[in-house]
Amino acid sequence: MSAASGDMSGRVVLVTGAGSGIGRATALLLAREGGRVLAADRDGEAAANTAAKGAGELVSVEADVADEEAVARMFERCEQELGVPTVLANIAGVGSTTTAPDTPLEIWEKVFAVNARGTFLCCKHAIPRMAAAGGGSIVNMASVAGIMGLRNRAAYCASKGAVIALTRALAVDHVDDGIRVNCICPGTVDSPWVRRLVEESGEVIDTLVARQPMGRLGTPEEIAAAVLYVASETAAFMTGSALVLDGGMFPG
Ligand SMILES: NC(=O)c1ccc[n+]([C@@H]2O[C@H](COP(=O)([O-])OP(=O)(O)OC[C@H]3O[C@@H](n4cnc5c(N)ncnc54)[C@H](O)[C@@H]3O)[C@@H](O)[C@H]2O)c1
Repeated sequence: MSAASGDMSGRVVLVTGAGSGIGRATALLLAREGGRVLAADRDGEAAANTAAKGAGELVSVEADVADEEAVARMFERCEQELGVPTVLANIAGVGSTTTAPDTPLEIWEKVFAVNARGTFLCCKHAIPRMAAAGGGSIVNMASVAGIMGLRNRAAYCASKGAVIALTRALAVDHVDDGIRVNCICPGTVDSPWVRRLVEESGEVIDTLVARQPMGRLGTPEEIAAAVLYVASETAAFMTGSALVLDGGMFPG
């Protein structure tokens, strides 16, 4: 699974959640590979930091993917600054750490607002633009949590299942527009989020590592490499897929 160097040359790329972890690694890699990248994040300072650190062309924008007006403004900004995005990486996401009975409704709503609604809104605003431009590639960040049960992650698992189902629906609806829609299902990745999770919930890294037969966490760069492959023309025959990268965690 490798996309050739320079595979993003001349492509306008929009990455959400680009201020941290997997989104940051993705924005940096796709810019290095020649993409003209809009690094978007709810945390505008973090997005600006990613853009400042990158090699290649990166512009940052503060945008909350759960807010449709903000999403519309984000796409307008992308067109003004860089052009019509023909690659969209929907990576912004939030987690949950409880069973269903222990999940307050507002946490359920928040997790779905970012993970499911946010992915939907970005796709909704991207697809007509990509179709008019002759096609494109959308990569949604799901999780193994969307295909298997993980303890104490009820809202998160459900929201990532929604991302996978949305990916498949969009793939068949827009195949004739030349738009490929796929998602990636990582196992546990060593990102700032996972470090925060460990601090907040008392989960120890060893437990998370032990769930993955490879005996280690993934890295944001490994997931970014998969986003590059899926987004690139190397993966031209791939649509509606959920690519699992989890060190062997999902039993298959
Ligand atoms: N780290 C893991 O183990 C893991 C595993 C599977 C899937 N994922 C998924 O990968 C994605 C990135 O995770 P990460 O570990 O890099 O997390 P992270 O917390 O390090 O980064 C997430 C980024 O998304 C941004 N964000 C959150 N809500 C947003 C919103 N409403 N609008 C715009 N930006 C928003 C945050 O500000 C942050 O910069 C998430 O969708 C997550 O569900 C992560």
